[in-house]
Amino acid sequence: MARWTFPVFLSILALGQNDSEVSMELTNKVVVITGGAGGLGLAMANELAAAGAKLAIIDSDQDKLENSCADLAGANPGVEIQGYAVDITDEEDVMAVFQYILEDFGQVNVLINNAGILRDGMLLKAKDGVVSDRMSLQQFSSVIDVNLAGSFLCGREAAAAMITSKQAGVIINISSIARAGNVGQSNYSASKAGVAAMAVGWAKELSRYNIRAAAIAPGVIATDMTAAMKPEALARLSQMVPVGRLGEAQEVAKTARFIIENDYINGRVIEIDGGLSM
Ligand SMILES: NC(=O)c1ccc[n+]([C@@H]2O[C@H](COP(=O)([O-])OP(=O)(O)OC[C@H]3O[C@@H](n4cnc5c(N)ncnc54)[C@H](O)[C@@H]3O)[C@@H](O)[C@H]2O)c1
Repeated sequence: MARWTFPVFLSILALGQNDSEVSMELTNKVVVITGGAGGLGLAMANELAAAGAKLAIIDSDQDKLENSCADLAGANPGVEIQGYAVDITDEEDVMAVFQYILEDFGQVNVLINNAGILRDGMLLKAKDGVVSDRMSLQQFSSVIDVNLAGSFLCGREAAAAMITSKQAGVIINISSIARAGNVGQSNYSASKAGVAAMAVGWAKELSRYNIRAAAIAPGVIATDMTAAMKPEALARLSQMVPVGRLGEAQEVAKTARFIIENDYINGRVIEIDGGLSM
């Protein structure tokens, strides 16, 4: 079990902003992003900071987190940013970090459940009637623990923090078009179907507390993960997308902002995939 110690390491006070808005405009709203130290999470952090949000960035990679928070602060002067080194699979630490966020910011308005991992593999391999390999329970569970259980824990604690700080809230779960089922992704597809379903259930449960929930299901987006692929595989993949290219992290970030700012989006899964479907 991974444990991380606090305190947070970066705090830059917001200047000249007011807290008077009642609609879900982003100015001065407190946005928590898990896995916010890289890829899509960092792009969403930049998009929402530019719109005036205060950021609580959670990530298990402490070095990456420290660098990303420094970059975010540099790119968004005057915006309040705190980094929290936490493994979202640890229930105690997740409960503790939302308490720290409440102490540091006084409220929580938005959670983006973005932290996620891939551990791809076939369910089994067989030739001539002989089974040679199986996906281990550990390989399956490691993805479920981070992508599904981690999102559950953060969603639960964020909702509690929104309610106790008497704030309207929005929770966005980052799913994937792989939620429909994909070769070599028993674990990942199951986790991404799960986070989409939780968003729908949470919308139904939490609307009475003025909390909306939704999910984003991206297709293939250019991040470090895709940059690590072989160029020929990447080119093949791009050709499969009807618009002829991979998505940009910025395009997913704009989708998150659209959901947050539109009070009538609730319980829906928005696919952003250039027309690629599974
Ligand atoms: N990139 C894509 O094409 C794509 C497509 C569909 C869905 N997604 C989903 O979008 C999300 C972000 O993807 P990305 O491409 O930016 O990935 P990424 O690997 O670049 O970023 C994921 C971040 O999550 C952090 N993280 C991992 N495990 C954690 C844990 N246990 N606790 C806290 N933080 C943890 C990592 O340190 C990392 O900073 C993921 O949920 C992913 O499944 C990505």
